[in-house]
Amino acid sequence: MNYFIQKLPKAELHLHIEGTLEPELMFALAQRNGVNLKYDNVEALRSAYNFNNLQDFLDLYYAGAAVLLHERDFYDLTMAYLKRVHQDGVVHVELFFDPQTHTERGVKMEAVVKGIHHALEDGQKWLDISYVLIPSFLRHLSEAEALVTWEQLQEFIPLFGAIGLDSSEKGNPPTKFDHVFSKVRESGLKVVAHAGEEGPSAYVWEAIELLKVDRIDHGNRCVEDVELMAEIHRSDLALTMCPLSNLSLKVVSDLSEHPLLELMERGIRVTINSDDPAYFGGYLSENYMQLSNALNLTKEQIIQLARNSFDASFITEKVRESYHKKIDAFIEEYSS
Ligand code: ADE
Ligand code: ZN
Repeated sequence: MNYFIQKLPKAELHLHIEGTLEPELMFALAQRNGVNLKYDNVEALRSAYNFNNLQDFLDLYYAGAAVLLHERDFYDLTMAYLKRVHQDGVVHVELFFDPQTHTERGVKMEAVVKGIHHALEDGQKWLDISYVLIPSFLRHLSEAEALVTWEQLQEFIPLFGAIGLDSSEKGNPPTKFDHVFSKVRESGLKVVAHAGEEGPSAYVWEAIELLKVDRIDHGNRCVEDVELMAEIHRSDLALTMCPLSNLSLKVVSDLSEHPLLELMERGIRVTINSDDPAYFGGYLSENYMQLSNALNLTKEQIIQLARNSFDASFITEKVRESYHKKIDAFIEEYSS
């Protein structure tokens, strides 16, 4: 089953590029850029990857991003991720980045966007991985700061497919960003938001009703509200769920308690993703494998999850159809 999962064509729809910064690359970039790290070596850093909640992780994740200074650093980070997941059957990626994490430190927006975008273009050419790029506002900052960031993003708008909302969820509800997301929607870009990861199901309602999201990132807590699940099903809103992230950040205490299967059985379009794989112990296939083991997923359910990843993606119908055909061809080849 592991070989089947690894080779099965899949899309990754919930991936923070800053969360793919492996300790080895973090140390290499720190040296290249003359940045001091708090840890003596890779092992010491890795042993600090022990989180009790989302904020524990975010503190380390933002500190680690300090080694990213130049366009080349963002290129190298993104290319390392693409090469890694190319071995994982990933043929399409919708990738988040947090502009404010970098502009707050004096890094130019242009260096961030161009470095990531250039690598994605090369990944498309060399590895045949298609992409959608999604800048996300940090919700622990103010809406006024998000509005400034929105202005700084304007010259790059044609490079983006959607705008997201991430970072510390508790106490930072979607309502806080109502105005900036109405501007985003006016621009024609799609909207996604992290909701119901640690925050209550009420935040998922707000993301749907106020921000008018096209997709929900995580959404675990919607299982607490039957009406919310019915609404998500009725409006065919997909959830981008992240099993190993949820385990690491103690959103679930064991993968066997993960809500993905219950939601899937209710007909909700759930997908499996890796979130911040360098920090949570596994890239996309590892997330599929560990969740499949924990929930005893059948081969048919795994194929459905891969199909969901394309159905929930922001690609054109023509491209979507070509990916479903790739899955068909893979299944035929595998079973012959
Ligand atoms: N930024 C990176 N990973 C995140 C997560 N899991 N939740 C919120 N913000 C994030
Ligand atoms: Zn996330």
